[in-house]
Amino acid sequence: MKLGVIILAAGKGTRMRSALPKVLHRLAGRPLLRHVLDAAHALGAAKVAVVFGHGGEQVPNALADAGCVWIEQAERLGTGHAVRQAMPAMADMDRVLVLYGDVPLIEPETLNRLVADTADTDLGVLTMLLNDPTGYGRVVRDKRGQVLRIVEQKDASEAELGINEVNTGFIVADRARLGDWVSRIGNDNVQHEYYLTDVIKLATDDGVRVATTQPETIQEVAGVNDRLQLAELERYHQRRLADSLMRAGVTLMDPARIDIRGSLECERDVVLDINLVVEGRVRIGAGSRVGPNCVLQDCELGAGVCVSANSIIEGARVGAGARVGPFARLRPDADIAEDCHIGNFVEIKKSRIAAGSKVNHLSYIGDAEIGTGVNVGAGTITCNYDGADKHRTVIGDNAFIGSNSALVAPVTVGAGATIGAGSVVSREAPPEKLTLTRSPQVTVEHWQRPVKRTKQ
Ligand code: UD1
Ligand code: CA
Repeated sequence: MKLGVIILAAGKGTRMRSALPKVLHRLAGRPLLRHVLDAAHALGAAKVAVVFGHGGEQVPNALADAGCVWIEQAERLGTGHAVRQAMPAMADMDRVLVLYGDVPLIEPETLNRLVADTADTDLGVLTMLLNDPTGYGRVVRDKRGQVLRIVEQKDASEAELGINEVNTGFIVADRARLGDWVSRIGNDNVQHEYYLTDVIKLATDDGVRVATTQPETIQEVAGVNDRLQLAELERYHQRRLADSLMRAGVTLMDPARIDIRGSLECERDVVLDINLVVEGRVRIGAGSRVGPNCVLQDCELGAGVCVSANSIIEGARVGAGARVGPFARLRPDADIAEDCHIGNFVEIKKSRIAAGSKVNHLSYIGDAEIGTGVNVGAGTITCNYDGADKHRTVIGDNAFIGSNSALVAPVTVGAGATIGAGSVVSREAPPEKLTLTRSPQVTVEHWQRPVKRTKQ
């Protein structure tokens, strides 16, 4: 069975009040439409067609790698019209499933169930029961409980408005029959739109039994129409991610205060304090702790790492047992080996720091190679940039760099070398020796501090 998926994404999204098309607004760091595309691919869809319209090429450009065909719906004449535009792209499919670009949290399991539960007939609809069905299309059934048709809120009679089984919009159908039905939909209704929901009546008129199934949660089928609904779904989704982390053995100091905008893999007994933001792919080893207000992006922390408050780690690797922060910034290609200490107000970029070395206070280390057991004193700066090019600093094992030194790259400090505090090192500092550049200290004997004159 070849399953084709049509994703409707041509809506204007007026209530977002945005220059960005609605389906490009982000949930958990990814465009709404990306979530839906992922769900379609998770189902093993043989072909995915996205119907876009508002915002011109912005949507296909933003998701150029989506592995789908893009169908432009120049005029938004209704959901039935939108599906009709995409049917030619479905020509070689057996069944077609309709999804929505602004309904991001639909679960592939639910869609699989919809497809499976309705496999023995030509049309299946995902419906749900709501205490307040206002705004939704109502599912009208006959006395025996068979679905007859769906009536939109605006077209419904008083009695039909009382029905609380509603249409979620998700349908699956035999491809050939769906093509026939959508070609026969008219727009003789209050909104003068071609309603996809009219397919249900056309099917029952053709003697087709319409099967239904329900989602696990209402959030799965909730659409985003404005930024309030987007924020609600974001919180719901984040809470679910937090719950699954806790089930996997992670302690969250507050599951309501973590934001995962990417993927987070944690080994056992990781403790995450409040206000952590995760972006890209992040892995954290067993027993590691991350303090409050940290940002982790595309990074890997080994086991037993301690990241203290307000640290930012981006594109970096931190080895087992290392300590980072508070207020540390590790930038791309910072490779910090086991048991290192990276302290407050230290920035490290594109540098390898071998096991057990310490950069504890107020330093910038860029384009450097630092050996094991090195102590980089407070305020040490690698002067890696001459205004045109970047240069490397190499520091050998067990070197000791005195506080407030400037290492003017390209430069090498030998193993076991000591650099006197306040030095500007621009030539090689030999191993095992003390090197310092320092003007001699003078004391001016008869000098007097100026005294303020008192006013008369
Ligand atoms: C639709 C259903 C309704 C259901 C509700 C669930 C119809 C006629 N009604 O109503 O029964 O209860 O969803 O949320 O289908 N779109 C296009 N092109 C168009 C029109 C719409 O791509 O020409 C897209 C929109 O971007 C949107 C989706 O289809 O994502 C639904 O369209 P909308 O007009 O919002 O339908 P509803 O009134 O919500
Ligand atoms: Ca809608």
